[in-house]
Amino acid sequence: MNELTVVIREGNLQDVPGLEAVINQHWKVNIDHGKELKNPDAILLVAVDDLAPSRRRNRILGTALMWVTKWNRTGYLVELAVAKEHQRRGIALKLVQDLAKRASGLGLRAIIVETQPDNKAGMDFYLHSGFRLCGYNDRYYTNNPASSHEIALFFSLEL
Ligand SMILES: CC(C)(COP(=O)(O)OP(=O)(O)OC[C@H]1O[C@@H](n2cnc3c(N)ncnc32)[C@H](O)[C@@H]1OP(=O)(O)O)[C@@H](O)C(=O)NCCC(=O)NCCS
Repeated sequence: MNELTVVIREGNLQDVPGLEAVINQHWKVNIDHGKELKNPDAILLVAVDDLAPSRRRNRILGTALMWVTKWNRTGYLVELAVAKEHQRRGIALKLVQDLAKRASGLGLRAIIVETQPDNKAGMDFYLHSGFRLCGYNDRYYTNNPASSHEIALFFSLEL
């Protein structure tokens, strides 16, 4: 496995195709990231390989999007995804640690995230990274068809 120098930074418009390619490895992109870059209550981060000097653009290894909710001083982690070929190298941890620092700086008290019980990697990651299970919602997803019966599990990281 090649060594990577992973840098976490705010995303920009040029990063959108790369970060959406990473997300598309896991689910169909359903957020307008160009719009999120203009959203004052959104923080969009990318993890890039800084050792790609020959490339005009950084290679996107992972991404995280958080919405700041002011009324209850929380950050809602909307998206967290790492390219399949770069998983288990601490990239998601770096993204979350960076988000947590920014969230603390904004006076937020917690980061909340939701995932499904069949996402073992997601749940293992959150539990490893300081999040704790804080609830569930069995009406959260459209569940269309109704037979899918998916529930949402919520995890929180206290800041
Ligand atoms: C969940 C996800 C973001 C983790 O990214 P990652 O960069 O591989 O995670 P990290 O390397 O930072 O993992 C840190 C720790 O979390 C735990 N962890 C992460 N992925 C795991 C997995 N697949 N199985 C078990 N534990 C896991 C481990 O304890 C790991 O530490 P270790 O590698 O030293 O054992 C990644 O698997 C992913 O993109 N999944 C698809 C999208 C998704 O499900 N996002 C989250 C829910 S919305």
